Amino acid sequence: MNLDQSLDKILIIDFGSQFTQLIARRIRELGVFSEIVSHRKIKKNNVDKTVKGIILSGGPLNVYEIKKYSFDSNIVQRGVPVLGICFGHQILSKINGGRVKKSKHREFGLANIYKKKDSLLTKNFFKNKKLINVWMSHADQVSKLPKNFSVIASSQNSRFAIVENKLKKFYGVQFHPEVTHTENGKKIISNFIFLICKIKKNWSVKNQKIQLIKEIRNKVKNSKVICALSGGVDSSVVAQLLNKAIGKKLYCIFVNTGLLRKNEEKQVVETFKKKLKINLIYVNAEEEFLRKLKNISDPEKKRKIIGNLFIKIFERYAKKINNVKFLAQGTLYPDLIESRSVTGSQTSKIKSHHNVGGLPKKMKLKLVEPLKLLFKDEVRKLGLELKLSNEIISRHPFPGPGLAIRMPGIITKEKIKILKEADYYFIKALKDNNLYNKIWQAYAALLPVKTVGVMGDNRTYEYLCLLRAITSEDGMTADFFDFKKSFIQMISNKIVNSIRGINRVVYDVTSKPPSTIELE
Ligand code: XMP
Repeated sequence: MNLDQSLDKILIIDFGSQFTQLIARRIRELGVFSEIVSHRKIKKNNVDKTVKGIILSGGPLNVYEIKKYSFDSNIVQRGVPVLGICFGHQILSKINGGRVKKSKHREFGLANIYKKKDSLLTKNFFKNKKLINVWMSHADQVSKLPKNFSVIASSQNSRFAIVENKLKKFYGVQFHPEVTHTENGKKIISNFIFLICKIKKNWSVKNQKIQLIKEIRNKVKNSKVICALSGGVDSSVVAQLLNKAIGKKLYCIFVNTGLLRKNEEKQVVETFKKKLKINLIYVNAEEEFLRKLKNISDPEKKRKIIGNLFIKIFERYAKKINNVKFLAQGTLYPDLIESRSVTGSQTSKIKSHHNVGGLPKKMKLKLVEPLKLLFKDEVRKLGLELKLSNEIISRHPFPGPGLAIRMPGIITKEKIKILKEADYYFIKALKDNNLYNKIWQAYAALLPVKTVGVMGDNRTYEYLCLLRAITSEDGMTADFFDFKKSFIQMISNKIVNSIRGINRVVYDVTSKPPSTIELE
């Protein structure tokens, strides 16, 4: 996020930790503005009078590999409180005269730390317990404390798990208080910013909205921006944010692939064109998609065809708008971390995901990605602040290739029609029974097998419908949702009785892994 000159803030100096954005996120949750600056770019004059505290992040480095990082130690000698986390703790110790060495026992994962002394940093952190679980991830450790530092807590392998220099307001923690695995970790951050830095709450979703709009205006100036709107949460929030920032200079293109959920295209047009008055170009490409997908049953081929055609159609329409310089995308922070390999190892391709992320390189557009530092739940809150309806904001994720990958085998108009109905009844039943928001993602799929049934003394020979409902944090792993028998029974009856073409319903009870969330 860009500097906001007027707001008091906590400055986070990033040394390359996977968790740096999580630190910023925790501070936002506590209602305070923060700014992240890379250790490579930080200058003494970044620490101006608005900086009420400094956090040194973790990182993959070793404090003695001085060539690999740059850090002007004067930055922490300006009377501002400092909290070092993991690598940040080690570097803070080193620049104050302490020593760091390779740990005999590396600590990764949960560790117990025990309290040795009271401190403002740990006020109400231990919750009347002597021991608390924290998340460690380090191979080095502080081996000698600098002068005037004292030990607040230790673990079995790290004597200096929490340390302080009360006079200088320097604090160091070897573990990661910003991750949820650290029990009560947010208290450490809260104590640091409110009790030690004495910063006042100054940040809210409303401020965030204002800040993002300001940044978009500064970046885009008078140029036109295009945006591929899918109707999902992220692209909807981006579209509405840009709409607020630049109004009619935004052009949204919505492609109806014919593989959307029932009535979805009507809802998108109704919301974005009619209600929010966004420049929306509606492209009905149902027939074109069906033609290209005819007789294709291989999942990867389906995905490729849909992805490529989507881009082709998008480009076709985008070219009709003169003078477009920017493409807006709903990239979120987790998308950015996932697209880099954190460990550097080769990851194998499971599915070629299609989303608007791969849009058109040929057009040489600059990107506007206003959500790229936010997490999904923050995007949802921002969407509500932008007056998007709860229905849009709390929608389950929907894959770019749509119903095509929920219909193993070939795709026909008839199958799409049946599947749209089944999905509609399932999702409606979840909403009617207050289950929708307890489930991360749910959908109906149509399997390419017909089975025999009996209805009203007659033999039926119809498709098999599979229902999938999962709980998950982020879609990377998932478990099936444990419905009551009465619900499963009710929805199975409803689908079979209401839809010609389905005479049997099954519920998918596999988790991810070994299965994936979608069928293809
Ligand atoms: P899988 O099936 O890989 O799905 O376990 C994980 C999450 O990703 C969604 N998904 C996609 N989203 N384009 C998308 O935008 C895609 O091609 C795609 N494929 C899967 C899926 O719905 C689930 O939420």
